[in-house]
Amino acid sequence: MIERYHAGLWPDVRRFCSRLDNFFYVKLIIAAHTRQGFPGSCWVWREDGRIAAFAAVAFLNKDDAWLWGMRVDPAFQNRGIATRFTRAQLEVVRKAGRTWAGLNTLERRGKAPTYRVMDKLGFRLEDTYATDVYWRRPKGIARPRAVRLPDVFALCRESRMKTVFFQHNGWFYTRLKPERRAWVNRAGVVLDGLPLLLVRGRRQEKGRRRTEIAVNLFSRPADLRGFVPRLLALVPQRGHLVVNYPVEWSEEFRRAARRAVPGLRQNHGSWFSAWRVYGRVLGSGRRQK
Ligand SMILES: CC(C)(COP(=O)(O)OP(=O)(O)OC[C@H]1O[C@@H](n2cnc3c(N)ncnc32)[C@H](O)[C@@H]1OP(=O)(O)O)[C@@H](O)C(=O)NCCC(=O)NCCS
Repeated sequence: MIERYHAGLWPDVRRFCSRLDNFFYVKLIIAAHTRQGFPGSCWVWREDGRIAAFAAVAFLNKDDAWLWGMRVDPAFQNRGIATRFTRAQLEVVRKAGRTWAGLNTLERRGKAPTYRVMDKLGFRLEDTYATDVYWRRPKGIARPRAVRLPDVFALCRESRMKTVFFQHNGWFYTRLKPERRAWVNRAGVVLDGLPLLLVRGRRQEKGRRRTEIAVNLFSRPADLRGFVPRLLALVPQRGHLVVNYPVEWSEEFRRAARRAVPGLRQNHGSWFSAWRVYGRVLGSGRRQK
């Protein structure tokens, strides 16, 4: 049974979430929805009288919702809870007038139960991306100048990409729908002749200002080996650059990055990951199994 999360349930949620991976993310999600006013809400699932799972719903814009932070107590896993809980979340999403719910999950064998839940609920695999974080810059490479590009949305739509990555509290992907045109176009630039999306943000971390740059690449650079060092020259002095791009390029992309930045490897100047983005269009109030 789904219930709204409140602070009094924290000890129950912490009990199992602290034993699962990425506990920090659950704390970040709760802070985002309870203290920072991020649109959406946190929920728990009660089974046999006990709190057996936690998950949240974020509203990314007026069309799209994002399901994040699903954690099922290991003592309750493989009993259909994530499936029933997600179905109940879809009702929350539908009632809030959103027409699509999405989520991302790592492209990794251990995530097979999540893929299975997506299958059971009729979600579609929208995109698979490499999403890499870089915080070391190549030496002696000039930063490319970003030149504004008026209608990057049209170019994104021509690519195979169905969703677009952005960060705000967490990592999200929203649909490339016509309603998002103005929002997407604000991020459109050309770098060394390549159209892409680039968003620069600032946040405070432990009292220090950090710069976060998020980039979506959707068309393949003709000279990927030459382009990657130029892109990495944008890594801020204090902060990081996140690059989201089709997973098919990842080997070549990362090889070019390692060539440009000596010593670059996982957790040393970079964090490489690959994600599946699942989505489901929600009907007009009609219940679906
Ligand atoms: C992923 C997770 C939420 C699933 O919760 P759950 O309540 O066990 O999910 P369900 O019982 O509804 O469904 C799990 C399905 O995966 C299947 N499954 C389990 N292990 C599997 C494996 N190794 N390979 C393939 N399928 C597997 C189960 O058999 C079940 O399918 P079935 O109903 O057809 O038998 C839970 O494992 C969890 O909390 N994991 C840790 C955190 C996490 O990864 N969260 C997701 C972040 S995106």
